[in-house]
Amino acid sequence: MNFDSKQLRQVLGAFPTGVTVVTTVDTSGNAYGVTANSFSSVSLDPPLILWSQSNQSSSHAAFKDSERFVVNIMADDQIPVANQFAKSGIDKFAGIDVLQGLGGVPIIDGTAAYLECRKVAAYPGGDHTIFVGLVEHIQRSSRNPLAFGQGRYMVTFAHDLGGQVGTDKELSTVSSIEAVRLASAAIAEICEEIGQRTLGLAVWGNQGPTIVRWEPSKMPVSPHLQTGVVVNLTQSATGVAFAAFMHNEATARAVKDELAARRDAGQPDDGQFAARVAEARKHGLARAIGQAPSDRHHVTVNAFSAPVFDAKGQMVLALSTTCPADRMEPDWDGEVPQALLRAARRLSKRLGHAG
Ligand SMILES: Cc1cc2nc3c(=O)[nH]c(=O)nc-3n(C[C@H](O)[C@H](O)[C@H](O)COP(=O)(O)O)c2cc1C
Repeated sequence: MNFDSKQLRQVLGAFPTGVTVVTTVDTSGNAYGVTANSFSSVSLDPPLILWSQSNQSSSHAAFKDSERFVVNIMADDQIPVANQFAKSGIDKFAGIDVLQGLGGVPIIDGTAAYLECRKVAAYPGGDHTIFVGLVEHIQRSSRNPLAFGQGRYMVTFAHDLGGQVGTDKELSTVSSIEAVRLASAAIAEICEEIGQRTLGLAVWGNQGPTIVRWEPSKMPVSPHLQTGVVVNLTQSATGVAFAAFMHNEATARAVKDELAARRDAGQPDDGQFAARVAEARKHGLARAIGQAPSDRHHVTVNAFSAPVFDAKGQMVLALSTTCPADRMEPDWDGEVPQALLRAARRLSKRLGHAG
């Protein structure tokens, strides 16, 4: 053996599980319960499950002798319940709401699910006993299950890249959440690549292109860079990137509304927006050069914005850099836009985009 028991625990902890409290009752009506993460499904037809209990456990005799048990699957707000049932020598059911299940076995209230079982086998398993139960009655609630791994309680949520189990096709269900997560983790590296210029991450929010993260440079274009800001769709580099690469109904409608509002305000677009979109599509990223000072930035700025795509080819994020015009060449082939484009392509690839 190349390990001690501590190392074995660490390795087993790399396999996250749910958390259950297994309950039973003895012939005198005394209730027992233990927290257990050894629960596992065994068979669907007949419906069999198992869990294993330490032979040292003070409730072991009760579980060994009883004919029935209930597996209560803890909900994610039931850490106190799981902790209470993991202690020995206390009144485990104090303050716990229970129902009487089949054979009088207690069912804990507020769980994610429970399974009422008849014990059909008990096998020796080293210092544990493996109990196999035939499932007779089940109940699922809408609560999220609690998880356990690496020695701590965890919460569960669906993987953004997850999709359907066992198929790669569904990888395309990626959302911008995963893109923001990946880009945030790489933000320092990308800033370095673009020469320590201000970098912004934007997603398509319910009001249009929305900045969700800024990484200011040492010379930010404004001391007031804010997240949650919705940027102009037809004129900012970020907006044009969404308009050019996220062509769907929502962007088309938003573009139409914004151009109409500008026309009403006496600032007709005269085809400039269409030209910006066409150049963006030609170069693979959007540009806004020589933008005059505004309440957002107090100097004239140049900006570029590169799209990040998911596995389905949908734009999920814009990587944008904005910089005082005298610190960033406006050329499409300049070092900064090309580095930004490379970073965006790298992120797209990590999200499963074929390129
Ligand atoms: C997350 C977690 C999972 C556990 N899983 C098991 C298990 O699968 N089997 C087991 O025998 N004990 C397990 N334990 C420890 C028991 O809960 C604990 O030894 C038991 O409650 C002792 O109670 P008793 O003396 O009343 O039998 C676990 C504890 C925790 C916190």
